[in-house]
Amino acid sequence: MKQRLAAARERARALLNSLSLAEKIGQMVQFSGERDRLSADLAAEIRAGRVGAVLNVVEPAAIEEIQRVARDESPHGIPLLIGRDVVHGFSIVGPIPLGQAATFDEDLVRAGARVAAAEAAETGINWTFAPMLDVCRDPRWGRIAECFGEDVLLTSRMGAAMVRGFQEDPATPLLSCPKHFAGYGASESGRDYNRTYIPEIELRNVYLPPFMAALEAGALSLMPSFSDLNGVPATANRWLLRNVLRQEWNFQGFVVSDWAAIAQLIDHGVAGNLTEATALALAAGINMDMSSHAYCEHISGLLERGQIDVAVIDGLVEEILAVKYALGLFEPVRSTRKQHDTINESIRVARALALQSVVLLKNECNVLPIDFAEAGKVALLGPLADQPYEQLGTWVFDADADMSVSVRQALCDRLGKRLLYAPVLANSRDQNTDGFDAARALVAESEFAIVVLGEESILSGEAHCRADITLPGAQQQLLEAISRIGTPVVVIIMAGRPLLLQNVLPFADALLFSFHPGSMGGPALAELLAGDSSPSGRLPVSFPRVVGQIPIYYDQGNTGRPATASTMMAIDEIPPQAPQYSTGNTSYHLDQPPSPQFAFGFGLTYTRFVYENLRIIRSFLPGSTSLEVAVDLLNAGDRSGIEVVQLYIRDLVASVTRPVKQLKDWRRVALAAGSRTTVRFVVERETLAFYNGVDWVVEPGEFEIWIGPDSQTTLSVITELPA
Ligand code: GLC
Repeated sequence: MKQRLAAARERARALLNSLSLAEKIGQMVQFSGERDRLSADLAAEIRAGRVGAVLNVVEPAAIEEIQRVARDESPHGIPLLIGRDVVHGFSIVGPIPLGQAATFDEDLVRAGARVAAAEAAETGINWTFAPMLDVCRDPRWGRIAECFGEDVLLTSRMGAAMVRGFQEDPATPLLSCPKHFAGYGASESGRDYNRTYIPEIELRNVYLPPFMAALEAGALSLMPSFSDLNGVPATANRWLLRNVLRQEWNFQGFVVSDWAAIAQLIDHGVAGNLTEATALALAAGINMDMSSHAYCEHISGLLERGQIDVAVIDGLVEEILAVKYALGLFEPVRSTRKQHDTINESIRVARALALQSVVLLKNECNVLPIDFAEAGKVALLGPLADQPYEQLGTWVFDADADMSVSVRQALCDRLGKRLLYAPVLANSRDQNTDGFDAARALVAESEFAIVVLGEESILSGEAHCRADITLPGAQQQLLEAISRIGTPVVVIIMAGRPLLLQNVLPFADALLFSFHPGSMGGPALAELLAGDSSPSGRLPVSFPRVVGQIPIYYDQGNTGRPATASTMMAIDEIPPQAPQYSTGNTSYHLDQPPSPQFAFGFGLTYTRFVYENLRIIRSFLPGSTSLEVAVDLLNAGDRSGIEVVQLYIRDLVASVTRPVKQLKDWRRVALAAGSRTTVRFVVERETLAFYNGVDWVVEPGEFEIWIGPDSQTTLSVITELPA
């Protein structure tokens, strides 16, 4: 699509010159329509050439009518962009993006976007507001569910994979729209829409790279965030949208505001009215106004008063038209028939994504997997055990909950009457403990208890932030109530964010964490419980022990006083009248260890992998652009498994402080029991680059390289990058 843009610009310019001012402004306007019909009012606006895009219309017949009116009855027959939040699937959904990140499998995530595009495009939708690329280190924020976690590289690669998946099939292209540009994931106190203060060095090293990767992958539209970046809302941020996006990055696509974000400049307090807000958004380079009614009502007045030049409007409209040409909207209309195999392909990919997204966090005495053929009765409890809708997660406007398969449905197939099911709680927030006695009785007569707990989907996603990220309702009490009976307890947690597990773990013999797994969550979890497949998910985000540790993430700074075992004193060890300096003056909390409950990259399998013999195969030589490093990996267990081998690097001495570790590559490696392999990585010199406050640099010196199973790995080697 991107390679067609140059030719498209020519055609766009020619068309632009024939448009009236009202039609030019029309291209900059996006209205929200009704899901299944074209209203007379909207039809009239389209017929007059005053609409460039709609969103939230999904019924194929309504979309076909919209495009027919636009093509056949408007002055220049310009087709509309039909936008929709196709974020992690369409009628069949995969795990929420945070769960898709846990797969560490770009190809699979790309396949998920491709099938979502195929399904959506068959309805006539041609634009999705995805991928969401906000790096986030604060699980209180509800939108962590929509992102790919805390790491820059993982977010960058997953975002690029989604862009390619959405756009690559010429038969069903879905224009992608990376969002929310930029730094939205740093909303203060994890409260949505809140301010963000991000120094430029942090912005460029952490929050901007995923958007660069998405644009390099071919994204041609982009959405700024609602949030205020260092005092200037992104929607009016000329530095961000003109200096960085257009001048530095030479972005040739168009920018659409978020929902009513132009009007919200008034609430931010940077515009006194919608006219001023319109002027600010135009000056920042917002091409299209999503549902603020700012552009359609205020641009012409600004032009008449000479407050803006028509050349600005022409430039913004040309960019929109060029993308429409590049997307193929002016080509002959293709039939949008429902293909049966699209749904089957969606189900296949959704199941693979769900399977690889689940993270095994605990498996005491290898209580998992369970041999369901030999097992006696199995108690299945919990408010999320049979919730086909809730397991879909956030942003599932078009999902077909009837196609979603719950854990209970999947286990029924395997256990029949041996499955003893009780939800016990009506939903994840239910405080009613009346069902606990019956639950205890079921557990007492069962060989295993499987408890599916967590968050309903409404508890994460946009505007759904939580200050207390423990299990809601009486779920903790339920777990404690059934754990004293002696039956092995397997806990499955479905949630849209990391939850505090400090008080859950003592009552779980095994724990599978499933970021809302989507339509095929049930069959995938059943497959893992039965051992048909071994868990291979790895955490894309750190799990704090308590909320007080937030923000907590692996690629933090070392500080001038790093905490070590010998420099810390736990709060309960402090003697009475302890002298001020006796607790060790290093960077830690007296009441919690400095480490997370579970680290980025962590995940168990049903086998045991051993890393040995980490070595530099080929070091950086003067003039060489890469080094090669290798490690031997052994599957020392009695089952096959998949290991996500992770490579981390630290720049030991640099002109500015650098993270103690940074993920620089990973590899999913399947190994049969008892077998061994060598895993090699080539580290390109440019991957060591960082922004030092002035420019992007690669500085010579010593680097420490780790290869291991997660971000807490200690197997490392030092290498030198010569000047
Ligand atoms: C929402 C979200 C954005 C979404 C848009 C359209 O408020 O912030 O992510 O794409 O509106 O639904």
